[in-house]
Amino acid sequence: MPEKKKLYNIARSFGSASESYDISARLQRYSGKNLMPWLPNRNDLTVLDLGCGTGFFTDILATRYQQVIGLDISSKMLNFSKSNRSDDIFWVEANAYKLPFADQSIDLIYSNLMIQWCESLVSLKKEINRVLKPGGLFIFSTLVDGTLFELKSSWGQVDDDKHVIDFKNESELELIFNTEDSKLIDYSIRDIVLEYENVLHLAKELKGLGANQVPTKQSKGLAGKDKWKKMMQCYQDFLEPSGIYPATYKVFSGLMVKLND
Ligand SMILES: C[S@@+](CC[C@H](N)C(=O)[O-])C[C@H]1O[C@@H](n2cnc3c(N)ncnc32)[C@H](O)[C@@H]1O
Repeated sequence: MPEKKKLYNIARSFGSASESYDISARLQRYSGKNLMPWLPNRNDLTVLDLGCGTGFFTDILATRYQQVIGLDISSKMLNFSKSNRSDDIFWVEANAYKLPFADQSIDLIYSNLMIQWCESLVSLKKEINRVLKPGGLFIFSTLVDGTLFELKSSWGQVDDDKHVIDFKNESELELIFNTEDSKLIDYSIRDIVLEYENVLHLAKELKGLGANQVPTKQSKGLAGKDKWKKMMQCYQDFLEPSGIYPATYKVFSGLMVKLND
């Protein structure tokens, strides 16, 4: 699928979720808060929230920093943010691969659970480093391999299609962010297990997050009702004694610094 079309699909998928997003964003809230201890204490900074979604964390950043920009590829997400968040924030509709900012103009880029949607993290990291000032920080979270393994394994027993997005692993991320011009100075990986009443509840939440978009051509065909039924039966293998369906998210939180030229 051409790159432009993929990005359009991601924007459309998140856009259609903009109204329901904040209700089903349990994971985002948790991972975004986890990044807070890395935020610098001085307030005279220009800060970019990359892939800001509904602007929940952009609003929090605006209480701490002088100039805050929320950027997203989805106009609907941004419309929601504009009407619900602080008037002091600048909202920008753009693609993370082509940031509309001058070289070395941003002190801090915060990005919560966005970069897993970017297929070329090497290009993204290059763009991030272009706009960051020397010594600038990139504080981010993303999902790594092992995420939604219950769903992946259940679908795996039904067909060979890809139903869950491909996530990078720890060493791939280290390689991308530890380069001659940047250093991953700290990171952690946490398993977050969310509980669902049933598999449909999980599917609904993924949809509410816009996370149903799998950027490959295999995702085109809709799984039929029978396939869904079979997958739900397979998911029963993970059912907890309390009758709750778990879903595991492996959240990678990272603190990268741009090195001086
Ligand atoms: C899972 S949401 C996270 C939103 C927000 N950071 C939060 O914590 O609630 C991911 C967001 O990234 C945006 N996004 C995905 N790919 C993007 C890209 N290439 N450029 C800019 N934004 C992108 C989506 O539109 C979506 O709003």
